[in-house]
Amino acid sequence: GDVEAGKAAFNKCKACHEIGESAKNKVGPELDGLDGRHSGAVEGYAYSPANKASGITWTEAEFKEYIKDPKAKVPGTKMVFAGIKKDSELDNLWAYVSQFDKD
Ligand code: HEM
Repeated sequence: GDVEAGKAAFNKCKACHEIGESAKNKVGPELDGLDGRHSGAVEGYAYSPANKASGITWTEAEFKEYIKDPKAKVPGTKMVFAGIKKDSELDNLWAYVSQFDKD
């Protein structure tokens, strides 16, 4: 994946998510340290029961499946997002998102 292209693709997420140093929860949870994080794990964020019960560990494969079609992967999620279908864009997005460690 191409980190710079992934950064541009992340503009689609920014209405609801922050990532990077000093990222805070907004409409959705902050996404720092996502690689290896368990679903529903950010403190102080009010997840849907569906997200919390999903038992996902966010790896590259799980992330891509979710972003492709959030409601198919996690029925009942409150993330309202049509999804990204292009594999190359998903590759780029993961390259960008997975570089941020938990701070
Ligand atoms: C949850 C990524 C776009 C709102 C999540 C989670 C991930 C994620 C990985 C699960 C986090 C966790 O379990 O801790 C992304 C990415 C996006 C995107 C990469 C862009 C491609 C959006 C948009 C919105 C949104 C545009 C708002 C319209 C939410 C909400 C949740 C969530 C509300 C919590 C879901 C729940 O509790 O059911 N997002 N998201 N996301 N996202 Fe997004």
